[in-house]
Amino acid sequence: MNNQFDVAVIGAGAAGMMCAAVAGQRGRSVVLIDHATRLAEKIRISGGGRCNFTNLQAGPQNYVSQNPHFCRSALSRYTAQDFLALVKRYRIGWHEKHKGQLFCDQSAEQIIDMLKAECDAGRVSWRMPCKVAAVGREGEHYRLETDGGVISARSVVVATGGLSIPKIGATDFGFRLAKQFGLKLVEPRPALVPLTFDTAAWAPFVPLAGIALEVDIETGEKKSKAQFREDLLFTHRGLSGPAVLQISSFWEPGASLALDLVPETDVASVLIEGKATLKKNLANLLSQWLPARLAEGWLAANGFRADTRIADMPDKQLRRLGESLNRWSIVPNGSEGYRKAEVTRGGVDTRELSQQTMMAAKAPGLHFIGEAVDVTGWLGGYNFQWAWSSGVAAGLSV
Ligand code: FDA
Repeated sequence: MNNQFDVAVIGAGAAGMMCAAVAGQRGRSVVLIDHATRLAEKIRISGGGRCNFTNLQAGPQNYVSQNPHFCRSALSRYTAQDFLALVKRYRIGWHEKHKGQLFCDQSAEQIIDMLKAECDAGRVSWRMPCKVAAVGREGEHYRLETDGGVISARSVVVATGGLSIPKIGATDFGFRLAKQFGLKLVEPRPALVPLTFDTAAWAPFVPLAGIALEVDIETGEKKSKAQFREDLLFTHRGLSGPAVLQISSFWEPGASLALDLVPETDVASVLIEGKATLKKNLANLLSQWLPARLAEGWLAANGFRADTRIADMPDKQLRRLGESLNRWSIVPNGSEGYRKAEVTRGGVDTRELSQQTMMAAKAPGLHFIGEAVDVTGWLGGYNFQWAWSSGVAAGLSV
């Protein structure tokens, strides 16, 4: 078996397959190595099995990174429209769901099959399942010790992803390799992840589990402030749903979240102004804005009786109730961790890499792409777009 290649790509996920296909179709001899038994499991489970494969609005503003401009070059060289053109070429049915998010009509498997076919078009060699035990430099080449023997390659592309969902094969291999070659890391942390709260403090909200509603959510101050209007989901242990997944990528331990459960309505003013004319009780009134179960649960959690008539309540109490809905401030005690996180924030420090080629300045021929790099997309197809764009950037340069 030939064990000498121009390029060895480690990790046959979204970024790795894209990179291998592009390099192979440029005539490079490429080997793609993955330790998993099933190909591209994260693509398979993504988007509820339909893969939210890109976002039409994808731009640097949709990514979290210590260097927010780093991703600009790759994203503009290979755009959401470029990936969509590929999807169309393979006649994969797709639809736009919400805010530019594109999904397969049928199955995420179609994206995996498409990338596999692109790799075949580039005559990519596969080693899978195959573990890489060590990577070292040997003259002009890299030497990879794998459980299928030694592989020699002029360039190595590390596409081993982040740490989320270890049970389907996530490892810290890429981060360890980066350290071995003297590259800095931005501390990895779970992101796009549900947030949790102290058990005693959360107890009043446990009965609200399962309720969803659109909210405004924010965290941070001034320049570091992040805000989203998305759906919130109450869970038994805390908060989830797109609103919380989005904000989790910006949340710093110890910081509070501010939520507006009735965006664009000043609840206190409506209640106080309506006191004279509105004969309803509190639960009826709140259910014009909130699901009925949340209205009742919210009143109980905040010490109000559901059947109190607003006409009988002092303005001060109505103001307190209104503010509890428009300015709910809570401090998570943590997150559900990598077990539930969709992605890993942080990773290989972008200051170590070329934004055109994704190559490490300190280790010529060694490239890092995809989620292993400190570029983390918002929820909504942005992470795959980064995988495709960074994969193409490296694939065009190796
Ligand atoms: P990816 O994780 O895809 O691939 C890494 C590969 O490296 C894997 O095949 C793994 O087996 C291999 N590997 C790891 N360690 C190795 C080692 N030591 N040796 C050899 N191989 C190794 N994003 C999005 O844009 N739209 C969406 O709909 C979703 N949905 C979604 C759902 C869920 C449940 C999760 C967990 C994540 C998402 N994502 C998403 C995020 C998206 O899946 C993720 O950002 C990309 O898959 C990252 O692509 P990479 O190729 O960088 O890593």
